[in-house]
Amino acid sequence: MFPTKPTLKFTYLTLTLLLLFTFNYVSYGSEVVSDNDDLDGIEELLAVDDELELEPKVSGGDVKLSEAEVLTKAQRIVIELNNDNTERVINGNEFVLVLGYAPWCARSAELMPQFAEAASLLKELGTPLLMAKIDADRYPKSASVLGIKGFPTLLLFVNGTSQQYSGGFTAHDLVLWARKKTGTPVIRISSVTEADEFLKKHHTFVIGLFDKFEGQEYEEFVRAAKSDNEIQFVEVSKFEVAQVLYPDIKITDRFLGLVKGEPERYTTYDGAFVTNEILEFLGYNKFPLVTELTEMNAIKVYSSPVKLQVLVFANVDDLKNLLDTLQDVARTFKSKIMFIHVDINDENLAKPFLSLLGLEESKNTVVAAFDNGMSSKYLLESQPTRSNIEEFCNNLVQGSLSPYFKSQPIPDNTEASVHVIVGKTFDDAILSSKENVLLEVFAPWCINCEATSKQVEKLAKHYKGSNNLIFARIDASVNEHPKLQDVNDYPTLLLYREGEKANPIKLSTKSSLKELAASINKHLEVQNHVAKDEL
Ligand SMILES: *[C@@H]1O[C@H](CO)[C@@H](O)[C@H](O)[C@H]1NC(C)=O
Repeated sequence: MFPTKPTLKFTYLTLTLLLLFTFNYVSYGSEVVSDNDDLDGIEELLAVDDELELEPKVSGGDVKLSEAEVLTKAQRIVIELNNDNTERVINGNEFVLVLGYAPWCARSAELMPQFAEAASLLKELGTPLLMAKIDADRYPKSASVLGIKGFPTLLLFVNGTSQQYSGGFTAHDLVLWARKKTGTPVIRISSVTEADEFLKKHHTFVIGLFDKFEGQEYEEFVRAAKSDNEIQFVEVSKFEVAQVLYPDIKITDRFLGLVKGEPERYTTYDGAFVTNEILEFLGYNKFPLVTELTEMNAIKVYSSPVKLQVLVFANVDDLKNLLDTLQDVARTFKSKIMFIHVDINDENLAKPFLSLLGLEESKNTVVAAFDNGMSSKYLLESQPTRSNIEEFCNNLVQGSLSPYFKSQPIPDNTEASVHVIVGKTFDDAILSSKENVLLEVFAPWCINCEATSKQVEKLAKHYKGSNNLIFARIDASVNEHPKLQDVNDYPTLLLYREGEKANPIKLSTKSSLKELAASINKHLEVQNHVAKDEL
């Protein structure tokens, strides 16, 4: 009935961000667009025609294609699905990766060139995968049969049965994922030359060294390569080849290591060769020391197994100055804390977090932590120096940080008939004060709050100087306190009786002024009785 406060827990944040960053799910009525049967035939002809044009015709070395031309060419490799050909294409091919899009959808437009480039790369690699796209706005029936419910949607059809896409969204990510799911989960590197070539193109990969590419452990490795959605796996059997890819390698017979394109380049795996354990190792170690949060990686970041996350909100220059420090600290807390940089000027990314801290307007670097498992938040309230950040992280890991609660600055209440309470003064002014307090909890956007505020003001005048009773109010949209966490409806009136502060009495906000006064009298008298009885 009443507007309720957004839950201030991290789960809320996760949800918000998921909504923000997952593809915009826009439902479209399947009857809205007519089927355009006449056009479909032409479209299909065109699509097939384009497909036939794929073979490179330009052989002269002096003819250079512009980037746009390359893209157009790549786009042609993608088959255009429509009402006539969809079923045939999906059921007639072992692997089809389908992109469902809408012409007006910006995210679709962003993905389209990546998709086309991936198609072109996959063709070069000789992958047995067909890339297809469908304008779901124009062909809603076919799109709906395929199970496309929003834009953009990526689905992989294997012999006609679909599975959700779970990789990244650059052309490279698409290629990697597609290869993993269509039979090439691991690249074999047999010579030092091949290894050198590979390194020119890849910065992040998993290397497995095996005597022979067979046996239980090798199979577990390949299974991990298939299950993982984003890292290229390579296998080698010669130690000198392994050394090129992983110079630190000491073990000569059977080895697994993760290589990343960042200061923390090499991570050696020392667990058993069991698929799930390998995947867990990757989950904990695949992120760089400091991950830059983007719309593309947000979901990956939130679903990281590392639940303690330190977020640094800073502009690009400030981050530059802080990066070495952060990387050093991150190294100390590797696989315990995930370090994330958020561009403080990026409204979409930074605001949802900063508003949880009441710091939406901050221009200075903010260091905060979230315990994704416990739904708690923490704020570094001192300067973001190396030692302060280190101490903050130490306490975070040990569980000895106090959760952060939002608060406005402490106000001056000397002249106020209704005292303004903020997060920071809640303890002193309410919980440990020697007075009875009637507290009005409100939010600025709540429609019914104003009437209640007026009543509280009248009551404050009425009771002025009597009953040891103070009137107060707190704006719950910008102030938090653990004892207020369960208050979700506004306005709420809470009567805190002296000696009984742990159990405030909720007064009805629908009562008349008289009824309110009567119930205040009743409750305060009851308390007096108890006090007398105890004497
Ligand atoms: C798809 O079907 C064909 C023919 O039945 C079969 O040989 C192939 O293994 C199937 N592919 C997958 C990935 O299951």
